[in-house]
Amino acid sequence: MAQLPIAHLFDLEGWEEPHLQEGLPGVALHCNTARLELATASAAADAEVISVFIHSPVSPEVLAALPRLRFIAARSTGFDNIDLETCHARGITVSNVPNYGENTVAEHTFGLILALSRNLHRAYVRTARGDFSLAGLRGFDLKDKTLGVIGAGSIGLHVIRIARGFGMQVLANDIRQTRLLADVLGFRYVNLDELLSRSDVISLHLPYSPAVHHLLDRERLSRVKRGALLINTARGPVVDTQALLWALDERILGGAGLDVFEGEDVMEHEERLLAAEGAEEHLRAAMRVHLLQRRENVVLTPHIAFNSHEAVRRILDTSIENIRAFLRGSPQNVVGA
Ligand SMILES: NC(=O)c1ccc[n+]([C@@H]2O[C@H](COP(=O)([O-])OP(=O)(O)OC[C@H]3O[C@@H](n4cnc5c(N)ncnc54)[C@H](O)[C@@H]3O)[C@@H](O)[C@H]2O)c1
Repeated sequence: MAQLPIAHLFDLEGWEEPHLQEGLPGVALHCNTARLELATASAAADAEVISVFIHSPVSPEVLAALPRLRFIAARSTGFDNIDLETCHARGITVSNVPNYGENTVAEHTFGLILALSRNLHRAYVRTARGDFSLAGLRGFDLKDKTLGVIGAGSIGLHVIRIARGFGMQVLANDIRQTRLLADVLGFRYVNLDELLSRSDVISLHLPYSPAVHHLLDRERLSRVKRGALLINTARGPVVDTQALLWALDERILGGAGLDVFEGEDVMEHEERLLAAEGAEEHLRAAMRVHLLQRRENVVLTPHIAFNSHEAVRRILDTSIENIRAFLRGSPQNVVGA
C-alpha cells in the first residue's frame, strides 16, 4: 500500500483540526497547537509538508531538523518568518495565502485611525472609570484630510477605497504603479518624501524584507508633516521603534496605531525575556514597547488585523487548497520562486 504523505501543522487552534482532516483525507496529519521552533521541530523530523502561522520562525536551523521537507504552506500573506534562501537551496516549495483579508486588514486599519482621530480608546478607559467629562477628548475629522499609503497592493488599495468613502484625499507610494487603479480609485502616486511631508495619516501596507528594515527611521520621520498619525499593520521592523518614540516625544507625530511592532513576539511570550539567549535584546524591545504603551496617543493591538471569523476561515481553506495542489504536482500561490 502506498504511504500517505506526512504533514505536520503548527500553531493551530482547536477548531481548525476537523476542517483540515476533512479537507486533506489522503494525508497523514499531525496537528499541533504549539508553534514550530527548534524545540518542536525534532518531533516532526518525518515531515514532507509543514504548515505554519507567522509566529513560527522557520530558520535555517529549524529547516535542518526537517530533512524530508518538500513543502511549506504558510497560513498567512507575509512569509518573512520563513528562510526562503535555504528553502530555495533545498528545493523546498513555499506557498502563502495571498488574498484572504484585504478588506479585513483594511477595516482594522480604520479601527486604529478612528481610535486615534476620535480618542475612542481614551474615552473608553475614562467612561469605564465613571468619568463622563469631555475634557481632552476633542478629535478631528477625516474628511478632507490626506491619507498616505505606503504599499498600495491588495490591502493598501482597500484602505484607499475606504479612505475615499470618508472623503479623504489619498497619496500612495509604491515601487509598482498602476495608473488605471489610481484613476479609478482617485488617488495619486508620489515619492516617499512627498507622501511623508503631506499626509495627515500615514499607513504602512508594504511587505517586510531586509531592504525595508527601519524604512521609517529618525531621518525619514523628521520629514513627516507635524502632528500626523502613523498606522502600522504591515510588519513591526519597517519602523525603527526608537525613532518612533523620538518622533512622538518631539510631537512630530501626533499619535501611532500599531497592530505590529518590534518586540510583539516577546510581549506575547514574556517568558522569553528570561531565556538566556538574546535576553538583552528582548529586554530592550520589551522596554520600548512599554514606553509606547504608556502613551495616551498610542494604540497597540496584538497583531489581530487579520483576525475576523471570515478571514481565518478563508486562510484555512486556501492553505488546504495549497497543500492539495502541491501534492498533485501543481503547486499554487508559490512565493520566492
Ligand atoms: N497585521 C496583520 O494581521 C496582517 C495581515 C495580512 C498582511 N499583513 C502585512 O501586510 C503586507 C501587505 O499585504 P498585501 O496583501 O497588501 O501585499 P501585496 O503584495 O498585495 O501589496 C504590497 C505592496 O507593497 C508594494 N511594495 C513593496 N515594496 C515596497 C517598497 N519598498 N515601497 C513601497 N511599496 C512597496 C508592492 O509593490 C505591493 O503593491 C503583508 O506583506 C503583511 O506583512 C499584515
